[in-house]
Amino acid sequence: CGIVGYVGEKQASDIIIKGLERLEYRGYDSAGIALMNGQMDIKKGEGKVQNLKDKLKADPIKGVIGIGHTRWATHGAPNDINSHPHVSESGKIALVHNGIIENYSSLKKELENKGRTFKSETDTEVVAQLIEEIYEQGNGTFEQAVQLALQQVVGTYGLAILNIEEPDQMIVARKGSPLLLGIGDGEMFVASDASPIVEHTKQVVYLDDGEMAIVNKDGYDVKTIEDEELTKEVHELAMSVEEIEKRGYPHFMLKEIFEQPRAISDCLRGRLNLEDDTIHLGGIADQIDKLVDADRLIIAACGTSWHAGLVAEYLFEHLAKLPVEVEYASEFRYREALIDEDDVMLVISQSGETADTLAALRTAQERGALSLGVCNVVGSTIARDTDAGVYTHAGPEIGVASTKAFTTQVSVLVMMAILLGQKRGTIDQEYAKKLIHELNEIPGKVEEILEHSDSIKDMAKLFSYAPNFLYLGRTYNFPAALEGALKLKEISYIHAEGYPAAEMKHGPIALIDEMMPVVVVAATDHTNDKMISNIEEVKAREGRIISITGEENEEVINLSEFSCPIPETEDCLSPLLTAIPLQLLSYYIAVNRGCNVDQPRNLAKSVTVE
Ligand code: G6P
Repeated sequence: CGIVGYVGEKQASDIIIKGLERLEYRGYDSAGIALMNGQMDIKKGEGKVQNLKDKLKADPIKGVIGIGHTRWATHGAPNDINSHPHVSESGKIALVHNGIIENYSSLKKELENKGRTFKSETDTEVVAQLIEEIYEQGNGTFEQAVQLALQQVVGTYGLAILNIEEPDQMIVARKGSPLLLGIGDGEMFVASDASPIVEHTKQVVYLDDGEMAIVNKDGYDVKTIEDEELTKEVHELAMSVEEIEKRGYPHFMLKEIFEQPRAISDCLRGRLNLEDDTIHLGGIADQIDKLVDADRLIIAACGTSWHAGLVAEYLFEHLAKLPVEVEYASEFRYREALIDEDDVMLVISQSGETADTLAALRTAQERGALSLGVCNVVGSTIARDTDAGVYTHAGPEIGVASTKAFTTQVSVLVMMAILLGQKRGTIDQEYAKKLIHELNEIPGKVEEILEHSDSIKDMAKLFSYAPNFLYLGRTYNFPAALEGALKLKEISYIHAEGYPAAEMKHGPIALIDEMMPVVVVAATDHTNDKMISNIEEVKAREGRIISITGEENEEVINLSEFSCPIPETEDCLSPLLTAIPLQLLSYYIAVNRGCNVDQPRNLAKSVTVE
C-alpha cells in the first residue's frame, strides 16, 4: 500500500492525488483521501487512483492538510467501505494505514463491548476507534492518546492520522512499514516512499520502527511512541523526477527493460578496476575479512530477488568455494534455522522493505551472524539495518514486474563472488581477469539484444494464445528459467513453470503437447549437450521450442522453432543476458493479451506485510 500526506498552504488534494499516482505501483485495489477544513471530508472507493480523481472532479473537496492512500488489500475485500482513510465513530479522527494489526480482533471485541460500532471489516478501523476511545477519556492530549493506542497494538504499521480538533497537525507513526517526512518551505510532506516527495523537496527524514512524528506546516517533532524526544538526521534524496516518469515509453516496464544497459553500467561504475583486475565494493570493504572467513553464506529473499539469490548460489560456490544456502525469507523466519556467528546472512531486496526479508534479517542478527544487504532503494530499511551492503544503483523501478533490479542484483553478486574468490584464493587470477573484463562488456551486449526486440515482439504474437508455458534451464540459467516463468505469470496471467531441464522428465513432460510452448534457456556451454538432449525429448512429444541461446550455438538454433540469439559470454555471466529476451517475451505477450503490464492484478511492488 502507499501513504501520502501534506500540510502546508496549497490545496492538499492536487498534491496528494499526484503523490498517490506515483505510489500506485505499491497497491491499487482502492484509493482514498481525507482533507480537513473545519470538517473531515473523505472521498474513497474501490479501484485505481483514476476513479478517485473522477470522484473528486465531480465533487471537489478542499483543505490544506490531508492524507491519502492506495491500497493492497489484506483484511477485507477491496470495496468502497474497506478502503482507506478510515474514521473513528464520531468521524473526527481519520487515518490511513499500511501493515497488519495482528491483535485487531481482540481489540475490536473490547471496543465493541464498550459500545463502539464498526463500519468496515478492516484491522485499520480498529486503530482509529481505539485512539478515539482513549482520547475521549480526556486524560491527555491527542498525541498521548495515539501513543497509548499504539502501545496496545501488536503488528505492523505505517500510519498517518488527522484529528479535527487539531486542525493544523498530522501525526504519523511507523513500525515495520516505511514512512518518511519531506521537509519543504512552509510545507511538509509524508509518504511511504520517496517517489511522491521528490518533486517537492529533496530533504527527507526516515522514521525508524517505534517512532512517530507530529507534523505541521512549519516543521516536525520526532519521538518514540514511549514519548522520548529524538533528533533525526536529514537526508538528501538522490533520485530525480525524470527517473520516475515514463519518458515516452508506453509502460514503465518497457522503459526499465530498455534502461538496463545504463542501469548495469551505473551498477558497475567505480567498482571494476580494469587496470589491475580487482573489484572494489566500498560498502562491504570493512566486513570483507569476516566474509572471507565465513563457514557459510545464507541468502534470504523473495520473488525475483530470490531468483537472483539462486544465481548467487552457483556463483559463490563456483568462484569463491563458499557453501551457500538460498532461502525463501518467509520460510527461513519461521524455521528453527541453524545460523550462528560463523555464518553470514545476505539479504537481497529491490525495495529494501519486504517484510519477510526484513524478518529473516532480524533473525540472523539475533543469532549473531554478520548481515549484508543488496538493495536498490537508497535509505530503505534493509539498507540501513544491515551491517554492510552494496547498492545496485538501478534507479527507481516502478513496474511491478522486476527487470533492471534483477540484472543489477546479479551484477552485484557476480562482483561479490569474484572479489571473494580473489580474497579466498579460490579463483585463478587469469580467469578473474577474464570475468572482470567480460562483465564490463555486458552493458554493450544487453544493448545489442535490445536492438533486436522487434523480432521478439513478432514472435510473441504467435504465442500469446498459449494457456501454459514451460521454461527450462540448467545451472546458471535454471534461475533464469524460473525468473522467465515468473515474469510471464505476473503480467500476462498465463500459467508458467520454470524447471531445471533434467527434472522435466520427472513430471512436466506429461504436459507437453503442441499447446504448451517450451522456452529453453540454453546459454551455458558446459551443459549444452545435455540441453540438446532435453530439447529432443520435448520435440519427440510435439512440443514447440523457443530457445534463448548463444548466437554461435547453431545446433540449438536449428532445433528450435524460434530462437532469440544472444551474444556469447562466460557461463556465469549468461543470466545477465538471457534475462533480457525473457523479459521482452513476457512483456509483449502481456501487451497482446491486453493486460495492465505495470499494475498486474493482485500484485504489489513492495510487499510490506507478511
Ligand atoms: C513483490 C514484487 C516482486 C519482488 C518481490 C520482492 O512480490 O512484485 O517483483 O521481486 O516483491 O521484493 P524486493 O523489493 O524485496 O526485491
